[in-house]
Amino acid sequence: MPFDTADLPDEAKSALKQFPEFEIASFNDSGANGYVLVGRHTLLQKEVAIKIYFHGENDIDQEPAIIAKINHENVLKVYDARKVRKDCSYFMTPAASEGDLSKYLDNYFVSLPLSHKLLCQLLSGIADLHRKPNLLVHRDLKPENLLVHDDTILIADFGSVRRVDKKTGAAPASKHSILYRPPEAFGEEAFFNFTSDIYQAGMIGFLLFGGKLSNDLLSYITNKQKITLGGIQGEYEKSKYVDSLIQEKIVRGSLLNFATLPFYIPNSIKRVLRSAISPIDKRYSTVSEFLAELLRLRNHLPDWTTRNKAVFLRNWKGLDYRLPHDEAAVYKRSTGGENFRRDNSYVGNNQTELLAQMKSRLGLP
Ligand SMILES: Nc1ncnc2c1ncn2[C@@H]1O[C@H](COP(=O)(O)OP(=O)(O)OP(=O)(O)O)[C@@H](O)[C@H]1O
Ligand SMILES: [Mg+2]
Repeated sequence: MPFDTADLPDEAKSALKQFPEFEIASFNDSGANGYVLVGRHTLLQKEVAIKIYFHGENDIDQEPAIIAKINHENVLKVYDARKVRKDCSYFMTPAASEGDLSKYLDNYFVSLPLSHKLLCQLLSGIADLHRKPNLLVHRDLKPENLLVHDDTILIADFGSVRRVDKKTGAAPASKHSILYRPPEAFGEEAFFNFTSDIYQAGMIGFLLFGGKLSNDLLSYITNKQKITLGGIQGEYEKSKYVDSLIQEKIVRGSLLNFATLPFYIPNSIKRVLRSAISPIDKRYSTVSEFLAELLRLRNHLPDWTTRNKAVFLRNWKGLDYRLPHDEAAVYKRSTGGENFRRDNSYVGNNQTELLAQMKSRLGLP
């Protein structure tokens, strides 16, 4: 069914009028500062996305210009950019087949090796932004701003990108997305530098490997704090109080709960993620350092995946393993074989205990 454009905002209608070769398929207005239309370019015969955004009348439209300068397989490309009117422009990019990373993580079970691969891709894209002569910090790395095309991650949403000051290596802190804001981006002397992108990449790594982070800010506060919140008058004052509690958690380094990671995530991976989200003086100092540590772990990463009813370990030394969620038992079969059979030599009360036995018997990390 053709997309009904009647209800689109005027700017989107103007952009579409300028682009008769574009057949719109979907419309996304989740962004703070514009709209994204996804559809098909009938001449290029490709799926493309059009991002329409608003800006000050005299602002230099930096977003498409920044993307156009970067040529990296993990950074979104730009095909074309035009003005709709003085304070509104749009640019066209390839469409990502899987949409953004947040949606991708909701829709798919991502195996451990694939999580590792996607994080390495992200770091390799960030390294390109950081590299001379670019010297760019993204400042708003979060799942909604990363796209997935097939099995490739693409860095997108360059609305917050800044060039760092050559002398200080820092840029002003961005006020976006409090959950992803690093500790140094709060307070009077707030700033954002290359390692702040590393912190955000560490958080994305945590999510890629299956860690849970709620977007509901109220889920982070205690019952006692909820009572205090109830006594505060005015929406703005309330949200300021909630933000201050989140800020405290971030500064204390207790926002991410590593216990939410699947039980099979190797400690070596957790150590790397912890280093990435450490206080600024203990964090990796360059993305390349972070990437190098991850790459060292690539060989012999077990191919674990969490599914609805069980976790699976594929092809560990010629065997597949299955650990159901509702039964403390280990099932196995030859890799790719038909039926799993229970191995009664594994005895334990839960998956973690069974994994400990598998580790000592099978040399699993
Ligand atoms: N090329 C694309 N292919 C598929 N989906 C896209 C593409 N670009 C954007 N989207 C979707 O649109 C959403 C918003 O895009 P984006 O993050 O670039 O803009 P925004 O958040 O409105 O920007 P800003 O933060 O500057 O206001 C993304 O989270 C993603 O779901
Ligand atoms: Mg965005």
